[in-house]
Amino acid sequence: MSNIHVVVLAAGKGTRMKSALPKVLHPLAGAPVISYVLAAARPLGAKTTTLVVGHGADAVREALASHGDLRFVIQEPQLGTGHALRQAEPLFRGVEGTLVLLSGDVPLLAARTLERLVGAHLASPAAATLLTATLADPFGYGRIVRDKGGVARVVEERDATADQGAIREVNVGIYAFDLAPLFPALAGIASANAQGEYYLPDIVRIYRGEGRVVNAVPLDDAIEIRGINTRKELAALSRAVRERRNEALMASGVTMEDPNTTYIGPDVEVGCDTVLRANVSLEGRTRIGAGCEIHSNVHIVDSTVDDGVVILNCCLVNRAKIASGARIGPFAHLRPESDVRQGAHVGNFVELKKTTLGAQSKANHMAYLGDATIGERVNIGAGTITCNYDGECKHPTVIEDGVFIGSASQLVAPVKVGEGAYVAAGSTITRDVPPGALGIARGVQVNKEGWVGRKRKKA
Ligand code: UD1
Ligand code: CA
Repeated sequence: MSNIHVVVLAAGKGTRMKSALPKVLHPLAGAPVISYVLAAARPLGAKTTTLVVGHGADAVREALASHGDLRFVIQEPQLGTGHALRQAEPLFRGVEGTLVLLSGDVPLLAARTLERLVGAHLASPAAATLLTATLADPFGYGRIVRDKGGVARVVEERDATADQGAIREVNVGIYAFDLAPLFPALAGIASANAQGEYYLPDIVRIYRGEGRVVNAVPLDDAIEIRGINTRKELAALSRAVRERRNEALMASGVTMEDPNTTYIGPDVEVGCDTVLRANVSLEGRTRIGAGCEIHSNVHIVDSTVDDGVVILNCCLVNRAKIASGARIGPFAHLRPESDVRQGAHVGNFVELKKTTLGAQSKANHMAYLGDATIGERVNIGAGTITCNYDGECKHPTVIEDGVFIGSASQLVAPVKVGEGAYVAAGSTITRDVPPGALGIARGVQVNKEGWVGRKRKKA
C-alpha cells in the first residue's frame, strides 16, 4: 500500500487509571500498551508515523526511543480528539495520500483489520472510512447514525438522544482519511457539546455537508476494539493477549507446562521443542533457542539464550547472553552484559555482572563475579568474590584459560590471574598471579599441640 501516513493519538491523561504513568505506557503482558498499536500498524508500511502526545510526553518519547522513525507532536492542553489531530497539521502541509488515525489505547487491534480498513478506503470514493463494531452493550462509545447516503454522523454517549443511545453500531476511533480535505475540515469542528471538546468524529457531519462520501467498515471480532480505561481492563486485556500469544507459541512447537502462569512478551521468540515449566516470564527483546529447558520461576528480560540451554528454578536473567549447552541455576542472577559461553555452568547463588564466563568454565556455588573476563575451562570455587569496586570506581578482573580459583577467595581488582594458574583457597589476591603459578595469600596456620588439654586443666 502506497502513500500511507499513520497518526496515533496518545495525549490523553487516562484519568481512570489513577496513575502517574501515562496510560499508553502501562505494561500489557510485558510491553507498553502503545507498542501493540505500533506493531499492528507496521505492516501498512507507512511513510511516516506520528504520535500526538501530551500527558507524560517525555516519558512516552523516551519509552519509544528504540522504535526508530517516529515523529512526535505535542498537544497542550488536551481539548479533544479533533484538536489532537489538528496539532499534526504542520507536518502534513502539501502532503498527499491516506492518513490512518489510531488510538494509543486500543492494543488488541489486529494488523489485518487495519489492512482491511485501508484497502476498503482506497477502493472507494470515500473521503473518510470509519471502523465500526456492533456491541451488545454500546454504552460509552460514539454511536454510528446512518442514513441513505451512508454514515451521517457520530453521536457521543453524553450527547445522544434516547433513540441514538439505542444504536448498537459504534465508532471504534480508528479511521482512514484522504489527506487533501482533512485539515481544512478539522478547522471547522466546534466544541459546542456536552464535554466542551473538539470531537474528531464531527468531521463526518462536516464531510456530508460538503457532499463527500463517508463509509464504514464493520469489524468481525469486537474484542479487537477493547480499550484500556481502568486497571481492571488492563488486567483483562493482559490475560487475553497472553492467551493468544501462548496459543501461537504452542502451535509453533513450544511446550508449556502451565500456560496460565506463563508470561511471554510480544517481541519474544522461543524455539521449537523448548519446554517452559510453570511461572516462567520472558520479556522485552528476549530470544530463546530450540530444545531449551526453562524451569519454574525463571524471569528473563532482553536476553539471548541459545539452543539446548537449561535454566533451573528461580533465576533472574537481565540483558545477558547464554550460549548453547550452558546450565544456569537454580537461584542464579545474570545481570546486564553477562556473557555465558558454550557449556559453561552458573550454579546456585551465583551473581554475574558485566562478566564473560568462557566455554566449559564453572562457577557452581555462591559467587559474585563482576566486571570480569573469565577464560575457558576455568573453575571458580565456592564463595569466590571479585572485589570490583573501591568505593569510587569499578575495576576489571581477568582470569585466563584453565585457571583454578580455590574456594572463598577474593580477587581485589584490577587484577589478573594468568593462564593455568592456581589461587589457593581462602586467598585475598591483590597482585597479579603469573601463568602457571600458585597464588596464595592467607594467614599461615599454627597448630598448638595439646592446647585443649592444658586449657581444661587450668579451669
Ligand atoms: C472516542 C470517540 C468515540 C469512540 C471511542 C472509541 C471522540 C470524541 N470520540 O471516545 O466516538 O467510540 O473513542 O474508543 O473522538 N486523546 C488525545 N487528546 C485529547 C483527547 C484524547 O490525544 O485531547 C487521545 C487519547 O489519549 C486516546 C484517544 O485520543 O488515545 C481517544 O480518546 P478518549 O478520550 O479515550 O476518547 P473516547 O471518549 O474513548
Ligand atoms: Ca477511550
